Amino acid sequence: MIQADPGAKLSVSISNGMTVEIRLGLREIRIGRGRDADLQLPDPSVSRQHARVYRVGNRYFLADLGSRNGTHADGNPVTQIPLDDGRTFQVGPYRIHFLQCGPATSSGEEPTVAPVPGGSAAAAPLPTPGAKRSSVPRICVDAPFGLVGTGPAVRKLSETVRRVGASDAAVLIEGETGSGKELVARGLHDASDRRDRPFVVVNCGAISPELIESELFGHERGAFTGATAQRRGAFEMAHNGTIFLDEIGELPYTLQPKLLRALEQKEIKRVGGNETLPADARVLAATNRNLKEEVAKKTFREDLYFRVGAITVAVPPLRDRREDIAPIARFFLAGLAARSNRPLPALSPAAIDALATHDWPGNVRELRNAIQRAVVMADGAELCAADFSFLRDPAKAASDCSACAGLSRWEQAERANILSELGRQGGNKTRTARTLGIAKSTLFEKMKRYGIRNQETDR
Ligand SMILES: Nc1ncnc2c1ncn2[C@@H]1O[C@H](COP(=O)(O)OP(=O)(O)OP(=O)(O)O)[C@@H](O)[C@H]1O
Ligand SMILES: [Mg+2]
Repeated sequence: MIQADPGAKLSVSISNGMTVEIRLGLREIRIGRGRDADLQLPDPSVSRQHARVYRVGNRYFLADLGSRNGTHADGNPVTQIPLDDGRTFQVGPYRIHFLQCGPATSSGEEPTVAPVPGGSAAAAPLPTPGAKRSSVPRICVDAPFGLVGTGPAVRKLSETVRRVGASDAAVLIEGETGSGKELVARGLHDASDRRDRPFVVVNCGAISPELIESELFGHERGAFTGATAQRRGAFEMAHNGTIFLDEIGELPYTLQPKLLRALEQKEIKRVGGNETLPADARVLAATNRNLKEEVAKKTFREDLYFRVGAITVAVPPLRDRREDIAPIARFFLAGLAARSNRPLPALSPAAIDALATHDWPGNVRELRNAIQRAVVMADGAELCAADFSFLRDPAKAASDCSACAGLSRWEQAERANILSELGRQGGNKTRTARTLGIAKSTLFEKMKRYGIRNQETDR
């Protein structure tokens, strides 16, 4: 009898802006540097066939394949070990996370607890940013593709993900920051025939413009200063799988024709190389910019826009689907409860009202952070409206400022979101960029565009 899929995956960060994930089903997954590995790791210290992960019953095991430099867990060399949810192991310079859950899981994004002015560490037995995943139990949800929500918009979105996912078309996912674009991208991959192949996330905004070509297409040894060994790029790692180009609007204009060629011809050339290599990856892209406007301004190529946007999926902002706010808030609260060693407060009807009337410029991510912050500060058995008094009315915040003249409603919302996150992070731009999921350089650029001066936020 075939057993139910326990919904396990491996996830590894390849560089600052690139992550590779692979689903673990019944078949064995081979990890290595070679092209025939299911999970390709591009560092020369990784053997061609380095390790394997396989399943016996409902349990997964990791075994080294006689690699040159060994596979390590907790600093010790591994011959063969069972894998439990959250376990990490090391192959070459890469730390690989094993995650196991039901078919639909909480998101891949780590929870963050916003520092609370005056909040004490003792009152907050919750994980801090950067906390090791291995110590963080995650909750599983019975929501298609992890998209929690009861309203018609989320139901329609899940249905679109199911239908569009099954095709092999390129998809452009549009939506405001924090609205769930990455969750949708993961859903499209999971709904496709490529689901057992790698899902490679490249955050175009997090990689410096000089490095992005090599991150996408790889490089040959000696291609540029510092290229001491040949290295595969995201397209090769995503061969037969999916590549998710996040923040595609940040892709340098000069690189766009090369990306277009890779998409049209399903072939790439490494930087400094002459060989043409097959690269059959389905491309998903996301943006919180208005790419059509970027095309009009000639900062984004029209031909590439039509190629990546063959199908567009719009993720609606949270304020346009207010019926989802309470279920998502409860979902985050349940997630915190699973990670906490004390009983957590419930949401009072007044608190739900307060949440339902806020405009959520930072969308679901802002809601998640608000729940975390309120839980850290609350001392009663119930969260009440006052526990969410830190939520500012973005329309009011926006209308308070003269710099908002000429900004679209969406830009005003983004400006308010950046301001509120900067405030929450005490003006710290590195943490703000990380929490917002954008590159620090992008944050600076947006602060400049929106006329946000340092003294507005440095507290
Ligand atoms: N419908 C939902 N149900 C549960 N969690 C959600 C939902 N939508 C978004 N999230 C969670 O909210 C957070 C932000 O979502 P995500 O990273 O997908 O947003 P995004 O649109 O990619 O944002 P950005 O443009 O800033 O990159 C994640 O933790 C994600 O799991
Ligand atoms: Mg994102």
